[in-house]
Amino acid sequence: MPGAVRLRDCEILEKIMKRQAEDKRLYGAISMAPAITLLPWGLLTRKRTTGHPAFFGKLPTFWAVKTNIQISGELTTSRGPGTSFQFALSLAEQLFGETTAKSIEEFLLLRDGYQNPKNKEFNSIDWSLDHTPRVLIPVANGSEAVELVSIADVLRRAKVDVTVSSVERSLRITAFQGTKIITDKLIGEAAESSYDLIILPGGHTGSERLQKSKILKKLLREQHESGRIYGATNSSSTVLHKHGLLKEKRTTVYPSESDEPMNQQMIEGAEVVIDGNVITSLGLATVTKFSLAIVSKLFGHARARSVSEGLVHEYPRQ
Ligand SMILES: *[C@@H]1O[C@H](CO)[C@@H](O)[C@H](O)[C@H]1NC(C)=O
Ligand SMILES: *[C@@H]1O[C@H](CO)[C@@H](O)[C@H](O)[C@H]1NC(C)=O
Repeated sequence: MPGAVRLRDCEILEKIMKRQAEDKRLYGAISMAPAITLLPWGLLTRKRTTGHPAFFGKLPTFWAVKTNIQISGELTTSRGPGTSFQFALSLAEQLFGETTAKSIEEFLLLRDGYQNPKNKEFNSIDWSLDHTPRVLIPVANGSEAVELVSIADVLRRAKVDVTVSSVERSLRITAFQGTKIITDKLIGEAAESSYDLIILPGGHTGSERLQKSKILKKLLREQHESGRIYGATNSSSTVLHKHGLLKEKRTTVYPSESDEPMNQQMIEGAEVVIDGNVITSLGLATVTKFSLAIVSKLFGHARARSVSEGLVHEYPRQ
């Protein structure tokens, strides 16, 4: 919300966007930005528009539509964080055509069979705590930005105390695809505290670099030995496996990779697998579900559902 207001107050941006619209080039806005930023600039005039449900009432009534994505001439609008993949894919389709958009979609998100199997839980134990849960998210150059940002964002919305920590020499890391991210602490400083959960985001080269961190290895060992919770998405399950922390634990695995299993306990195609104090997930496409599963284990379904409403993410009734 403050972000959309600050964008609105930037005169240079206003000029750029107005020129963009006058020249009939593509422009777009998501979540609160259609109502808070584009509307006062006069850029929604005679456009069908959608936006975040909490701000829907502010959109011009006759032109407001309750869809996830709305394309109206050069303008594309979308509802919120939970529809941002669809929003990005729609822009890719408008820029590069349907074939390109479809191939990105298949690669990133919705490969056949991944939507069907849902969460699986084995050896269920209680994760609830009598204090604010403290979560460490260690990251490295090459970590998957969407995974690390989504996990931190969803957990912070749920009022978890999150520390994002760099295993590199600098607080600043270069995530996969070149996105720069400023972390909260270096791993050495982070290691002075203990955490209720340690979660490793994926990204192939990032995972390899996480695996090389001796400090992280020690933290993960302690986590395992004291029975506290840990988990990983995508390629970072390998880090846990290589440190011997997945013995007897069931984990997720992509269906196509099941020919060469890391261990005997892989649950093929499941989006999120919880086995006692260990949680794993496939990756980009499933990271919001993964994060909401953590929220649900820590605080119950009601908290997870209310966080998912803010995200405009569909959360199953339970
Ligand atoms: C990791 O990324 C940071 C920040 O962009 C950069 O300064 C550093 O050189 C990178 N480290 C390696 C080993 O590539
Ligand atoms: C996740 O990991 C597998 C290999 O471990 C890889 O094929 C896939 O592209 C990765 N990325 C995503 C987006 O899940």
